[in-house]
Amino acid sequence: MTTEAAIVDLAALGEDFTRDPYPLYASLRAQGPVHRIRMPEGPLAWLVVGYEAGRAALADPRLSKQWSSASPELGIRPVSPGVTMLSADPPDHTRLRRLVAREFTARRVERLAPRVQEITDRLLDAMAPAGRGDLVDKLAFPLPIFIICELLGVPFLDQDSFRAWSNAAVGETDPELRMAAAGQLNRYLADLLDDKRERPGEDLMSALMHASDADDDRLDGEELMGMAWLLLVAGHETTVNLVSNGVLALLTHPDQLAALRADFSLLDGAVEEMLRYEGPLETPTYRFTVDPLEIGGRTVPGGGELVLIAIADADRDPERFAEADRFDIRRDARGHLAFGHGIHYCLGAPLARLEAKIAIRSLLERFPDLALDAHPAALSWRTGMLIRGPQRLPATW
Ligand code: HEM
Repeated sequence: MTTEAAIVDLAALGEDFTRDPYPLYASLRAQGPVHRIRMPEGPLAWLVVGYEAGRAALADPRLSKQWSSASPELGIRPVSPGVTMLSADPPDHTRLRRLVAREFTARRVERLAPRVQEITDRLLDAMAPAGRGDLVDKLAFPLPIFIICELLGVPFLDQDSFRAWSNAAVGETDPELRMAAAGQLNRYLADLLDDKRERPGEDLMSALMHASDADDDRLDGEELMGMAWLLLVAGHETTVNLVSNGVLALLTHPDQLAALRADFSLLDGAVEEMLRYEGPLETPTYRFTVDPLEIGGRTVPGGGELVLIAIADADRDPERFAEADRFDIRRDARGHLAFGHGIHYCLGAPLARLEAKIAIRSLLERFPDLALDAHPAALSWRTGMLIRGPQRLPATW
């Protein structure tokens, strides 16, 4: 196979692609697993579609996640400060992940459950007894951010500024605006960490700092900064959209909603199906080639080319999930790639699942007549190829 290829210009597709990217991905998948694309964000990339090829590429050790591997010709720079495990290869990745996983334990997540419930209840109280408004604003956005405040050990975060910076840092297509927002976010985090150093608490961030003081193998300042950034941005931009996309899927599939309301033992499976059917990440973080390699029978050049994996398409591949475009909370959706696969598999998956289950169940129990207050086709969606979710979710309750 040749490396010369027609370029599929996703930027030219505009709003249609942002609103509903699935048909285009499916048509590419019908032609083969690897395509040359221009991203809406501008750079040229290689896009991997389909479940088999996507799953293999996510765990392919020949693809690097280090920014130093990226070709300067791509014209892209990292928005995250410091060093993060998500942008590291072994052995650095192994070390960073081990240090953090030691503190970010199942026990710490379980301990958060009562707080998740308490915060959810408080947010729902503010909506009671009835009303209309934006569910992103009322529930999906504030819940994860409050929980991340608990992990970071900050009682209150300037939510409006944080939301604007964070949204822009991951979804803004203009590189200047994206970098400006990331800069503001980074200054905010640096101040936060200075403050933590002086006043440590019981939180995860303090524990990570302590580990960095008491252990021979420790997280340095850059790495702590990277971890704070990962918790804030990776842990929040995603969970917001698990709740929004999940509630939207239920409200647009009344039979599924009724089934869940009638039997909440379906909740665990329903959340897996929400992750599969409309996961928060359309393509996860960037990977770069080092040497030329073959993916799905096609040669991708080495030298720092950008490789994107369309997990949104992998999880709609009918070869893996029967009637993949159908939202069905009773199906076995396990094996979906919404949390990634391989050594970078999401460290926050148990927390994300916990939050989504509590938020969605409590919302449905509190408001029996919850309904969408807009035509689904009229919703506007987050821009860029990373995040998938509605900007607003108008509802009545
Ligand atoms: C529904 C919510 C979430 C989704 C869909 C999600 C998805 C993902 C995916 C796909 C990856 C792998 C990216 C790649 O390979 O390029 C990842 C990695 C990661 N996620 Fe999540 N995530 C979610 C929530 C969270 C939360 C709540 C946290 C922490 C509070 C978190 C922390 C991380 C970290 C630290 C990594 C990097 C792991 C590594 O590089 O070894 N995520 N996530």
